[in-house]
Amino acid sequence: MKSKSEIPDVRLKQLVVKWNEKKIADFQADFLNWYEQERRLLPWRENQNPYRIWVSEIMLQQTQVVTVIPFFYRFMEWFPTIKALAEAPEERLLKAWEGLGYYSRVRNMQVAAQQVMENFDGEMPKTIEEISTLKGIGPYTAGAIASIAFDLPEPAIDGNVMRVFSRLFELDDDIAKPASRKTFDYVVRKVISHKDPSSFNQAIMDLGSGTCTPTSPKCESCPLKVYCGAYQAGTMTNYPVKSKKVKSRPVYYLAQVVRNQSGAYLVGQRPDKGLLANLWTFPLVEVSGDEYGEMRGQWQDYQQSQESQVRLDLVAEDSLDLRQWVENNRQDTDVIWQKQPLGEVTHVFSHLKWHILVTYGVTKGSAYELKDKERWLMPEEFKEYAFPKPQQKIVELLEGHNYL
Ligand code: ADE
Ligand code: SF4
Repeated sequence: MKSKSEIPDVRLKQLVVKWNEKKIADFQADFLNWYEQERRLLPWRENQNPYRIWVSEIMLQQTQVVTVIPFFYRFMEWFPTIKALAEAPEERLLKAWEGLGYYSRVRNMQVAAQQVMENFDGEMPKTIEEISTLKGIGPYTAGAIASIAFDLPEPAIDGNVMRVFSRLFELDDDIAKPASRKTFDYVVRKVISHKDPSSFNQAIMDLGSGTCTPTSPKCESCPLKVYCGAYQAGTMTNYPVKSKKVKSRPVYYLAQVVRNQSGAYLVGQRPDKGLLANLWTFPLVEVSGDEYGEMRGQWQDYQQSQESQVRLDLVAEDSLDLRQWVENNRQDTDVIWQKQPLGEVTHVFSHLKWHILVTYGVTKGSAYELKDKERWLMPEEFKEYAFPKPQQKIVELLEGHNYL
């Protein structure tokens, strides 16, 4: 396993140079002083009872502080100890959570309480590794419990922490990407107070919620403004960098797998520009979302009724002229065109999602004239051609039906 403080990238090395020991010590002192004076008085801050801190962190995961407070009091009354939680009847447990939502949180917490009873003699474990073995406790919650309850210098990185630290250190790591966590983990470890990690982490939470807020940080009254890179540069609102999850655009295709009497399959080469340039696929016909939905519906009917013939008018336009070819040859008794739906294949590209309905047909006769960039290929020749992923998935689908 890699150690938690991996060798930082050049950017972070420069940062370490700028943040010498003196600066880090001043920063910690100023920040802890501020917290001492300004800290919010919250019920789970009355003592360092790990169970109370655990419950509060789970409640605070998807719910705001003001909402959580009354729930927290009641929960502690109903289930005052880990043992009480472990043994609580389910209805009572769910009742306690009613209004908070995300019930899996409390279900997991009960399983974890049972783990504590069985594996740790009913005492909350005191190392981050052991805490992390409990159900529902991820890296953030483990870090929060370890630091707040047990004074261990562990980061507890959530969105607030990433916002504050991205501004303080002008870090443009995309906080939507899980990999960015490493950067923040590294930086927090650099500056976290070892004397009072509990207050240090809670100070970040308070700063993030009241001062270093998402859209209009109150920098003038911020205890960290003399240390803050983004404030000095006037770029506070450029941070954090957070990419929007791009929803991939759907594209719909009909794949027409055609086999001739010698067992060869028709493939075509894609244009030499654009997505999957020059790669080979079975004939693909792009259709609209509506057409696709309609065909898919009819195919499901077909699969239910097990009819062998699918109506040709379901084939869309521009199908490498296959449609025309099929139409022309329909009267020709030498041609059998049995088309049957095989199934659906999807593939996600970075910005597109292909939905492909796959049809399978066998031709009799050889009326079809190959065009430029088209071939009849025997299955054993497939490996000599570059097949993109969606094509491979279609091949797998055929293999699944024992058609290859
Ligand atoms: N948000 C998450 N954990 C918190 C805590 N312990 N105090 C205040 N706000 C929080
Ligand atoms: Fe956030 Fe402004 Fe404080 Fe920097 S100075 S930490 S941007 S509130």
